Amino acid sequence: MQAIMVSEPGGPEVLHFETTEMPEPRPGEVLVRVISAGVGPWDTYLRRGSFGVQMPFTPGGDFAGTVVGDTGAESAFEDGEPVYGTPGLSGCYAQYLTCPAEQLAPIPAGLDGTDAAAVPIDGLTALQGLTDVLGIGAGDDVLITAGAGGLGHFAVQIARLLGANVIATASPRNHDFLHELGAAEVVDHTRDDWPDQVRALTGGGVDRVQICAVPTVSGAARAARDGALIATPVPADGDYPDAERLTWRHYFGQPSGSNLIRMAPWFDDGSLAVHVARRFFWTDAAAAHREVEKGHTRGKLLLIVDEDVAASSGV
Ligand SMILES: NC(=O)c1ccc[n+]([C@@H]2O[C@H](COP(=O)([O-])OP(=O)(O)OC[C@H]3O[C@@H](n4cnc5c(N)ncnc54)[C@H](OP(=O)(O)O)[C@@H]3O)[C@@H](O)[C@H]2O)c1
Repeated sequence: MQAIMVSEPGGPEVLHFETTEMPEPRPGEVLVRVISAGVGPWDTYLRRGSFGVQMPFTPGGDFAGTVVGDTGAESAFEDGEPVYGTPGLSGCYAQYLTCPAEQLAPIPAGLDGTDAAAVPIDGLTALQGLTDVLGIGAGDDVLITAGAGGLGHFAVQIARLLGANVIATASPRNHDFLHELGAAEVVDHTRDDWPDQVRALTGGGVDRVQICAVPTVSGAARAARDGALIATPVPADGDYPDAERLTWRHYFGQPSGSNLIRMAPWFDDGSLAVHVARRFFWTDAAAAHREVEKGHTRGKLLLIVDEDVAASSGV
């Protein structure tokens, strides 16, 4: 099969095609023919050699595709069934992959079978931050920084679906987008005084924050009242600020088929949607990486692996 590989750390130009062995599913794993893969900042961090990644490797943390063959009695998936999920940190820019059965889920009817690849990592990270870390419920105020990006646009919608009153930050060109997604208030994070605006909107500061971009960490601390809880899937540039008066919870989104299934009714009734800013055929993976590295994607970028799907969708 064909896969995109990274053999040495570097810029987008190090992404290259190789013919590799077909993966063999182990017990409890499912073999998937990949239709599309999500593209996110993580793929570019690994391509540059961060986080101790072992080379060579195939980038791509989430996928949509179809099940190949009999998955055995222990899993509920059928040959040819459309599924999506995350096998872990990498491996999705490939024609085939294997994934533990509990880390994938059927693609909901309300979700496009190709765009579904843009959901798993960011959708799960948003859901888990808002529920498991912050315990968001009806009537809570929550600040979501960088609400228009891949992670942020799921966080805004899911917080709203959990009944929260959402204050989000974004560049001005994304303010209408975030209001459409359900944010009650949107603050311009290109202004130095954005944390003061959040404090004014909340009568002295928010007490729950979902961080969705590295440059918003220090501003989030300024926007938060004493004792606030802050969920952050991004590292701080140094120590997290004001740790004596704020509770920072650094976490990583976890693969979870059951959490994907939890989101399915929202996709089916149209209350949750993925916004795909741009689709690239996978021969243009380097261009997709250059685009994500600009840091201002609205929603998600998608890599289409399947040639027929690419042709019919005009990429
Ligand atoms: N640990 C995990 O499990 C996990 C999972 C998912 C994501 N993440 C991390 O979360 C971060 C965001 O991921 P993503 O996929 O959402 O990225 P993305 O789609 O590239 O979005 C980046 C966001 O950052 C905002 N931004 C860019 N420069 C900014 C600045 N100077 N000040 C304030 N905001 C700025 C942009 O907002 P505007 O365009 O509106 O300015 C945009 O919304 C990445 O670091 C990623 O690695 C971690």
